[in-house]
Amino acid sequence: MKEWMGKIRTLSLFSLMVLLLSACGKENLTTFIPKGYGAEESLKVITISTIVMAVVFIVVMVIFIYVVWKFRQKKGEENVIPKQVEGNKTLEIVWTVIPILLLIIIAVPTILVTYDLADQSEIDDSITINVTGKQFWWHFEYANEEIQTSQDLYIPVGEKVYLKMLSSDVVHSFWVPALSGKMDVNPDNENTMYIQAHEEGVYWGKCAEFCGDSHSLMDFKIIAVSKEEYAQWVEDLQNVNKDVQPETTTAQEGQAIFEQSCIGCHAIDNTPSAGPNLSNFGDRTTIAGVLEHNEEELVEWIMDPNSKKPGNGMLGAPYLQNKGEITQDDAEKIAEYLMQLKPSEITPNSAQ
Ligand code: CUA
Repeated sequence: MKEWMGKIRTLSLFSLMVLLLSACGKENLTTFIPKGYGAEESLKVITISTIVMAVVFIVVMVIFIYVVWKFRQKKGEENVIPKQVEGNKTLEIVWTVIPILLLIIIAVPTILVTYDLADQSEIDDSITINVTGKQFWWHFEYANEEIQTSQDLYIPVGEKVYLKMLSSDVVHSFWVPALSGKMDVNPDNENTMYIQAHEEGVYWGKCAEFCGDSHSLMDFKIIAVSKEEYAQWVEDLQNVNKDVQPETTTAQEGQAIFEQSCIGCHAIDNTPSAGPNLSNFGDRTTIAGVLEHNEEELVEWIMDPNSKKPGNGMLGAPYLQNKGEITQDDAEKIAEYLMQLKPSEITPNSAQ
C-alpha cells in the first residue's frame, strides 16, 4: 500500500513539474503571443476550437454526473427501472443537430484560414527565399538578391515573405511559433509558405519534426527589421568579400588557416556551400543556433562539435587533427577571425 502511495506521489510531482516547466522557453517563442499574420490567424482558430471543446466537455460532464447521481441504485428500489427514452425522435434530432452546428462553427474559420495561409497569389511580387533544412541547421538563399546565409533569416517588417522549402536529408519542419504555423520540409516535394511579422524583433524558430540526435538543437532565428534596415542589410550582405583583411595578426593567421581547411565546407561570401554560410558570423548571437556567442564556446565547438550537437555533419577538429591540420591554437585563431566577420551594421531590435 505504502509503495503504491509513493508512486502516486512521484507521478503527481512529475505532472506538476511538466505543467510548470512547459511555460519555460526563449523570448518570442510562443503561439500565445502572436507577432505575425499566420500566428494571429492560427491563434483565432485554436481559441474557437478550444472554447467549443470546453463547452462540450463541461455540458457532457454535468449531464453525466447528474445522471449517475439521479439514477443510482437506491435502497428498496433495487428492481426499479427508470423510464426508457430510446428511439425518442426529439432527443435523437437534438443530439445530431448540435454536433453538426458545433462542427460548422469549427470548420468554417479553419478552412478559411487554411486557404488564406496557403495563398500564393503575391509570390511573384514578394521576397522569396529558398530554405534548406539540414541535420541540424538551416540554409537560406535569397535567390533574387543573390545572398546566401544560414541560421539567421532577416526579413522586412510588415511584408509577406515567401519561403520555398526543401530538405537535403531527412524530413524537418520549419516552425516560428510567434509568426506562423509549422510547415514540413521534405527531401523531394517543395513546400511553400509565407511569413509576415507585424513588429520588429528577433523570433526564435525550432525544427518541429524529429530528425535525429540533435533535433531539439536545430534552432534558428527570424530577425524582422524595418524596410530601410532590410534594404541596407541586403546591400551589406551583397558586398561581403573574402578579400577583406582582418585587423589583427591573430585574425589574419586565423583567416589563412580557415582558407586552407574550413573553406572546403563553409563559405564567407555568397557562393553555395555544403556547410553553413559564415559570411555574417560575427553579427550572430548564437553559435550553431544554440551555444553562447563568444570565442571560448567557438573554440570548444571547433575542437569537438559532436559533444555540443551530437550527430551533426561538421567534421571539425577530430578529422582535421588526424590530418595534422588543426590544433587548439589554430582553433583560437580561427575563432578570432570568424568573430570579426561583421558585414552589416544593422542591429536587430530584440523587443519582446
Ligand atoms: Cu530537423 Cu528536427
